[in-house]
Amino acid sequence: MKAVQVVTLDGPESIELREVEAPQPGPGEIQLDVAYSGVTFPELLQTRGLYQLKHEPPFTLGAEASGIVTAVGEGVEGFAPGDRIATISNKGGYAETMIAPANATVKLPDSVSLKAAAGMPMNLLTADFALRVRGRLEAGQTVLVHGAAGGLGTALVQIAVAMGATVVGVVSTEEKAETVRALGAQHAVLSDGFKDAVKELFPDGVDLVADPVGNPQDGDRFTDSLRCLATFGTALVLGFTAGAIPQVKVNRLLLNNVGVAGVGWGAAFAKDRDLVRRQWEAMWEHLEAGRLDPVIHAVYPLEQASKAIGELETRSVRGKVLLEVKAEG
Ligand SMILES: NC(=O)c1ccc[n+]([C@@H]2O[C@H](COP(=O)([O-])OP(=O)(O)OC[C@H]3O[C@@H](n4cnc5c(N)ncnc54)[C@H](OP(=O)(O)O)[C@@H]3O)[C@@H](O)[C@H]2O)c1
Repeated sequence: MKAVQVVTLDGPESIELREVEAPQPGPGEIQLDVAYSGVTFPELLQTRGLYQLKHEPPFTLGAEASGIVTAVGEGVEGFAPGDRIATISNKGGYAETMIAPANATVKLPDSVSLKAAAGMPMNLLTADFALRVRGRLEAGQTVLVHGAAGGLGTALVQIAVAMGATVVGVVSTEEKAETVRALGAQHAVLSDGFKDAVKELFPDGVDLVADPVGNPQDGDRFTDSLRCLATFGTALVLGFTAGAIPQVKVNRLLLNNVGVAGVGWGAAFAKDRDLVRRQWEAMWEHLEAGRLDPVIHAVYPLEQASKAIGELETRSVRGKVLLEVKAEG
């Protein structure tokens, strides 16, 4: 089968489309014919050996995919050949055949296409975990989302809107602001001067800040986020696409009765193997109703995986980039 592999750690340009043997499912695993793979930020880091989770090259890239079950390993219950599924794994998705852990695999409602499904696992599971589990979001609360037109950002906006929150997205361009409003966010503001714009909209502050962006090398965006929080509000730390990890002066938390909470979906799943099932159950009604439909920025053939990953570095992506492996129907 064809698979896109990291052979040397020299960035997205150095990945290779290779002919390799199709993997077989072991106990607790599912084999699938991949329809689409989602392109995620960690893959960009993995091509340079910079991601926290390291694999020895050569290895097949790809953290998430959708497709059709072809075989199940020993002890797998609830899945059978022919099922339409989406899955998240730490490698293997950029390939014609993938092996996925059954406990990180979900069945799709009929209303969700395989194309949409490939953009779901990482972003929706992380966004749901951030807002519902770590942020304890309730209907009627206010949420500020950084990088709101990005892959994770659009999922955060959709989940927050579906849960009945009022949402303000922070983005770098007017074009991205349009994308965020089209998802149902009531407000979209530009990242330059976002604090003043948010204070004008919500003088008492917002209940939650969801931040996958962090700080630029030359600025302190995170402290401005803390300044946007209402009393008892929480800033959720999700990632650092802008390049620098913020430092927090904790006296600021004390003085304003606000908090900071880390959101590490992978670490939570490693300790709680039933997490995905419960999360999918919580999201099911929104999935069926079409409220969690990923924005698809571009779809590339598997052969152009390098170009697809490279897109994430341009900062121009709105929503999700996918690889088409074997289209539906
Ligand atoms: N905590 C978790 O469990 C978890 C799970 C999954 C992913 N993540 C992390 O979440 C982050 C976001 O992932 P994603 O897939 O949403 O990425 P993405 O689609 O590329 O979006 C990231 C956003 O960051 C903003 N940004 C600001 N400065 C940037 C820069 N210098 N370069 C690129 N983007 C920049 C951009 O928005 P503007 O242009 O509008 O500023 C962009 O839309 C990644 O760091 C990823 O590793 C965390």
